[in-house]
Amino acid sequence: MEAHERILVAIDTADTKAATSLAQRVAGVVGGIKLGLEFFNATGPEGVRAVVAGKPLFLDLKYHDIPNTVAGAVRSVVRACRPSILNVHAAGGRAMMQAAVAANQETADAIGITPPSLIAVTVLTSLDDADLDSIGQYRPIGDQVVRLARLAQEAGCDGAVCSPREITAIRAACGDGFQLVVPGIRPTSSAADDQKRTLTPAEAVAAGADYLVIGRPITQAPDPVAAATAIADEIRASSAAA
Ligand code: C5P
Repeated sequence: MEAHERILVAIDTADTKAATSLAQRVAGVVGGIKLGLEFFNATGPEGVRAVVAGKPLFLDLKYHDIPNTVAGAVRSVVRACRPSILNVHAAGGRAMMQAAVAANQETADAIGITPPSLIAVTVLTSLDDADLDSIGQYRPIGDQVVRLARLAQEAGCDGAVCSPREITAIRAACGDGFQLVVPGIRPTSSAADDQKRTLTPAEAVAAGADYLVIGRPITQAPDPVAAATAIADEIRASSAAA
């Protein structure tokens, strides 16, 4: 994969015009666009289609419901938005993930596209050990993350969203073919914002990340194209040196 193809730019806004203009500017220098709940709930599939305009899309909607409902959501969204990557919460359980995997494959076959990668969220990075305890989940967090990643893989999911500090453990548990999509990335020159445990793009790729979800270091940069290009250069230089 080319260095720039690993970059998924997170466009976090409810404004279709702003999102479209940014997506158009960076389209040639990143691998794809990540849109999430804020944008989808404001604009629906129509807004999503306007923004991505044929670019690979990671649609970050994190489904978590009974299997029948999640299967229906996957069918609807694959038809309406044709994402390259979509996700569910692994905590929804094996049957829910299996239903999502089956619905994803059937819908892709029916409309004649390559099935989107269906990846799992393990433990939200906003939760700590005390939070897990309060919702009655197994601790420590690192063990729970690996347990849910393995469950997602057994259920047929293609990969997981994970924080930089979880890459090594999930890669070791789930092997090379399991796609790891990693937010919490900060290039050497950028501010951490509200991200607490970050890795640089090159460090994350060296640790085993497949895709990097990068928002503000690109979207809030004075020149988003230059920022994305510098990130791709940083990844390329470090892979060449390795
Ligand atoms: O601006 P920034 O690079 O921090 O954006 C990261 C993106 O990844 C945001 O859309 C954020 O919601 C998302 N994300 C994250 N941490 C997670 C999961 C998703 O930052 N654990």
